[in-house]
Amino acid sequence: MNVLVLHGSPRKNKNSDTLADFFLKGLQSNGKRRIRHFYLNDLKIKPCQGCLHCSMAPEHECSISDDMGLIYTAYKEADLIVFTTPMYWGYMTAQMKTAFDRMEALAWQGFAGKIFVVLITYNFHCQSTLEFFQRISPFFKIRLHYISCRTYDHIHHHEIPVADCQAELQQAYNLGKTIGATE
Ligand SMILES: Cc1cc2nc3c(=O)[nH]c(=O)nc-3n(C[C@H](O)[C@H](O)[C@H](O)COP(=O)(O)O)c2cc1C
Repeated sequence: MNVLVLHGSPRKNKNSDTLADFFLKGLQSNGKRRIRHFYLNDLKIKPCQGCLHCSMAPEHECSISDDMGLIYTAYKEADLIVFTTPMYWGYMTAQMKTAFDRMEALAWQGFAGKIFVVLITYNFHCQSTLEFFQRISPFFKIRLHYISCRTYDHIHHHEIPVADCQAELQQAYNLGKTIGATE
């Protein structure tokens, strides 16, 4: 199994990356996988220009030549794509959304056969982003799994270190383990 991990947070090794670590540990508990990580904040990815070149091009390729090319190549080789992102103002981060818009070039061939794992950390609300993935999955034949993890104590009004979110980290590990055992 080839795995592509897209990291949406500009904060390396913090909440959403840690959730992804646990998922990947579970996934690899049954044997090593080929995993490629892309930290979107470190890449030069231009926003989609809406030219729809990808809709007409023979291979549905994108007209923009930039670091997204690395992700297109890795995506084609991947069986499993992990999207790990915090919520920013009610949605995935701008870094993740920019990459997702550019995935338009991949959507023309559909996402059938790929497993999408969406990992979200948030303080107040994550439904809008989860609903987006739930809504597109049947149409694009995506096999969707997701875990969300609230990193905020609503009673005492302070952030919770992700290390204290043991239930969600375990859930992520278990999801990885289950996918690893069955795929
Ligand atoms: C600019 C900014 C906007 C945010 N907007 C939201 C939001 O709309 N809803 C929410 O639940 N949390 C929001 N948060 C909180 C983060 O989603 C949360 O702290 C997350 O766990 C951070 O993950 P990270 O450590 O991987 O960056 C926001 C944080 C920042 C910095």
